[in-house]
Amino acid sequence: MRHTGTKESVLALFEENRGTYFSGEEIAARLSVSRAAVWKAVKTLRDEGYEIDAAPNKGYCLSAETDILSAQGIRKYLNPACAFRDLLVLEEAESTNALLREQASAGSPEGRVVVAGRQTKGRGRLGRSFYSPADTGIYMSLLLRPANLSPDQAVSVTTMAAVAACEAIEEVSGKQAGIKWVNDIYMEGRKVSGILTEAALSMENNRIDFIVLGIGINAYAPEGGFPEEIGEIAGAVFSRRCDDGKNALAAAFLNRFAEYYAARESGDYVEKYRDRSLVTGKEILILSPSGKRRAFAEDVDGQCRLLVRYEDGSREALSSGEISIRFGSRIRS
Ligand code: BTN
Repeated sequence: MRHTGTKESVLALFEENRGTYFSGEEIAARLSVSRAAVWKAVKTLRDEGYEIDAAPNKGYCLSAETDILSAQGIRKYLNPACAFRDLLVLEEAESTNALLREQASAGSPEGRVVVAGRQTKGRGRLGRSFYSPADTGIYMSLLLRPANLSPDQAVSVTTMAAVAACEAIEEVSGKQAGIKWVNDIYMEGRKVSGILTEAALSMENNRIDFIVLGIGINAYAPEGGFPEEIGEIAGAVFSRRCDDGKNALAAAFLNRFAEYYAARESGDYVEKYRDRSLVTGKEILILSPSGKRRAFAEDVDGQCRLLVRYEDGSREALSSGEISIRFGSRIRS
């Protein structure tokens, strides 16, 4: 069992009751700790950036505007049925995927989630790095141990995650999100989220031992903008600071993903993926080590493979890889 200190308990009380005042005496009584311990916890939380008002005769209250990722902050939005509630939230990690892989190899059970407010070695697809600055993004990894999933079926997890990410973004921002095959989430022509699924195989039966599903979401644009290399492509979910936006967005993703994952046999997500595909019906460039090839994206099939027609009339079903697509006048890869 994980140890919960006074600070964590005070934060849980505040998070579940944002905007409500509690006297020091009441908090102390509720948590069976001394008033001095409450005072110390409030001070530590303030030092960490929490806006906690103190008013005479009213007590302490966590401001509705505070926007800091925490396990308590995310948990208060989780549906009771959400299976992803074993949350470890860190201010910083090298890579949440790398950390959770270590925990998975050491035997952590399905349902474990690692979230970081910043990554120093965030990993992207195809060996790239993923820009993960402090305070503006959500960097989150989920541990899955699906029984009897073949390596070929692992792509379905990424597909469900892409649909869940779009729905979560729309729920909290009220704006539309779409999927650029295979798993980049775009809003208004800019990439706001990327997904990296890493699987470990069991040598004995060539089945999947575990999957680490990693998702990075740019909740806000960093002050001073995105770095030049991604400045033309990257965007953010919210255009301005939003009360408790990061906790709400992280929880919305976990709620949605948990539903699709629990019902994965039904394949419900495939039609939703298709509906959100930004690529279907468009001219694209297929990028491979041997070069670029023009094609027309005809459809996405039941396994979320991209069905393309080349200029010579030949066809192919792509199950992974990278494409470029023209949004407005810009080519995006
Ligand atoms: C991509 O767009 O190339 C995929 C980006 C995936 C980034 C997430 S952030 C959380 C998790 N930890 C990582 O190191 N990477 C993934």
